[in-house]
Amino acid sequence: MSLLDHSIIVVTGKGGVGKTTVCAVLGLIATRQGKRAIITETSGARVLPGIFGVKSQGYQPVELSPGLDTLSITPLEAIEDYVVQQIKVRKLYELVFRNRVMAPFVDGVPGLHDAVQLGKVWDCAVQARDWQGHPRWDLVIVDAPATGHGLTMLQAPRSMMDLTRAGPLYKGNAKVESVLSDPVQTRLIIVCLPEEMPVAETIELSQRLGPRRRQLSLCVLNEMHPAPSVPPQDWTIARDALTGSSSPALDEAVGLVDTWQDRMQAQDRARKRLAAELKLTITDLPFLFRRRLTPADLARLADTLTPVLTAV
Ligand SMILES: Nc1ncnc2c1ncn2[C@@H]1O[C@H](COP(=O)(O)OP(=O)(O)OP(=O)(O)O)[C@@H](O)[C@H]1O
Ligand SMILES: [Mg+2]
Repeated sequence: MSLLDHSIIVVTGKGGVGKTTVCAVLGLIATRQGKRAIITETSGARVLPGIFGVKSQGYQPVELSPGLDTLSITPLEAIEDYVVQQIKVRKLYELVFRNRVMAPFVDGVPGLHDAVQLGKVWDCAVQARDWQGHPRWDLVIVDAPATGHGLTMLQAPRSMMDLTRAGPLYKGNAKVESVLSDPVQTRLIIVCLPEEMPVAETIELSQRLGPRRRQLSLCVLNEMHPAPSVPPQDWTIARDALTGSSSPALDEAVGLVDTWQDRMQAQDRARKRLAAELKLTITDLPFLFRRRLTPADLARLADTLTPVLTAV
């Protein structure tokens, strides 16, 4: 069984570590396996269409590549979607929820924004149908907010249930929660960089996951630099012979290799620390020396990640 055989994969991690990139890579792998997948960007982010050179349609799905769609969820549209589904009359929604008296109240309910975004994820995974009446997507990949907010978002349906205790909001959130907290249907991936802060945040997140810990399937250690062909012990010898030369260019080259060796040690430390604390499969994704990643780069990263997904 592949990790992608689950219905929903939530990808989180510290800001800027490569969550969106990993979502795209997972999406490409899913389509290679013949699945139809959608990546939901959250909180109004619209990064993926830009990478694939297509125009974002916001809340409406748009195709990134054959079999792979994306949409961008905003809390406001998700609330509207939810309420209109409940009361079936858009005009009534506009009248009741978007007037000056109600709007601040709706915006102020703690957890509501996050809960309705997951409601949309649930909708894509459970309810959405294609024109033939079949499930529209086999897999929903959630590009979740960064660690702290990502965790609050995951806890939001439960918070809303505690807040409401009964009624349609309770029932709606209970449905979402039952799917999102079920390890058979929903799995989590944390993306991390081989640096101290992201590693510390990753470990903290995994500790704070509580019972959701059993849904955590994989940690992707992204932007790993390739090892130099000279092993550290040989470099120590070569370095002694090279230092103190009268050539500034040679000194600079020595400095560069030193930095490279330091990076290797940092990567090694990060991998060991994560492995010890998470007790989870940790997999590397290489750093690609590009100013901007293209779909072809994502396909390369997909080649690396594919075998790992069947092993977790
Ligand atoms: N393996 C990689 N090699 C080279 N560049 C990468 C790699 N992974 C990600 N990047 C680049 O790093 C930057 C951040 O990646 P990305 O947008 O995926 O991170 P993020 O975690 O989604 O960020 P945010 O928290 O802002 O949403 C992007 O410019 C992306 O192209
Ligand atoms: Mg992102």
